[in-house]
Amino acid sequence: MNSASNQIYPVVWQDNKVLLIDQTRLPGEYSRVAIARSIDMAYAIKTMIVRGAPAIGVASAYGMYLGATEIETNNRQEFLRHLEQVASLLRQTRPTAVNLFWAIARMLKTAYEEIGTVAEIKATLLKTAQQIQSEDLKTCQAIGDYGLTVLPDTPQKLKILTHCNAGSLATAGYGTALGVVRSAWHDGRLARVYADETRPRLQGARLTAWECVQENIPVTVITDSMAAHCMQQKMIDLVVVGADRIAANGDAANKIGTYSLAIAAQAHNIPFYVAAPFSTIDFKLTDGSQIPIEQRDAAEIAEIDHTAICAEGAEFYNPAFDVTPANLITAIITEQGAIKPESLIDHRGIAV
Ligand code: MRU
Repeated sequence: MNSASNQIYPVVWQDNKVLLIDQTRLPGEYSRVAIARSIDMAYAIKTMIVRGAPAIGVASAYGMYLGATEIETNNRQEFLRHLEQVASLLRQTRPTAVNLFWAIARMLKTAYEEIGTVAEIKATLLKTAQQIQSEDLKTCQAIGDYGLTVLPDTPQKLKILTHCNAGSLATAGYGTALGVVRSAWHDGRLARVYADETRPRLQGARLTAWECVQENIPVTVITDSMAAHCMQQKMIDLVVVGADRIAANGDAANKIGTYSLAIAAQAHNIPFYVAAPFSTIDFKLTDGSQIPIEQRDAAEIAEIDHTAICAEGAEFYNPAFDVTPANLITAIITEQGAIKPESLIDHRGIAV
């Protein structure tokens, strides 16, 4: 957190190190981990010390720079060969969020395009990582602004449901889905945000609720299984979630449980928005069936606080994400405006 304000920055570049808020320890403990090597950055991404699609994009960009500083040669070809190895290490961390692959590709492109010495390539890589970070912050603020344009025009303040954590912690700052919530709050249009707890990693309960409390945004945490009931009770005016990867047809992968939320929203005639930057759109994929879904350790389900909660002998299935079909999404709120999922393909040229 920035001491001058409540602004939360999960990734900070300081004294030749990356300082990451350790998101595995929130909300009980607010601390930062100093990362000085690419291998440690890969570990931090894999173990979710840093998580959320845009935030792992930013973190992997710095990971590429740290990796570049570890390469000792002055020979350009040799340097680039080693940098490819750093890229491959970082790519193996988490498979679903395309921002990771997008940021690594952008860093590699920068290195190949810089015609100077190895030292100059390294300097350009640092600048590019910083640029990726500052662009993401601006992008999230634009997403928040465009979010305001789609909010239902009601005399009462709005009750918004969100899932997982798509806030400052999941981005360079401000957030995507929670960016829309923040903007609605600052604009005086939000009554309350409902945060799904988000089993099994509890990003909603642990992180979204924490972020809201830091800014005095009224927040009610519910278990995932309560969402449809809350909709039926007319407690929810709209749903807004983030995304880890969006296919060209508008199908969107996000935290497991998002799909069932979208079905429930449709059944109750509640708008369902996905808020995401263009760096989350993978135009190479024609539809959501091609999005790789990360499978995580059974212990995330089988244990609570390292205590087994299920009978020995039970088996587990733990996909970290699901895919919400485009036809359940009212619009995708991007830094270029709110776009109908079926029109996404017309915006292909905007993606960098
Ligand atoms: O497994 P996580 O915590 O990295 O998953 C995060 C999400 O699913 C977010 O909703 C998504 O990355 C968007 S973050 C702006």
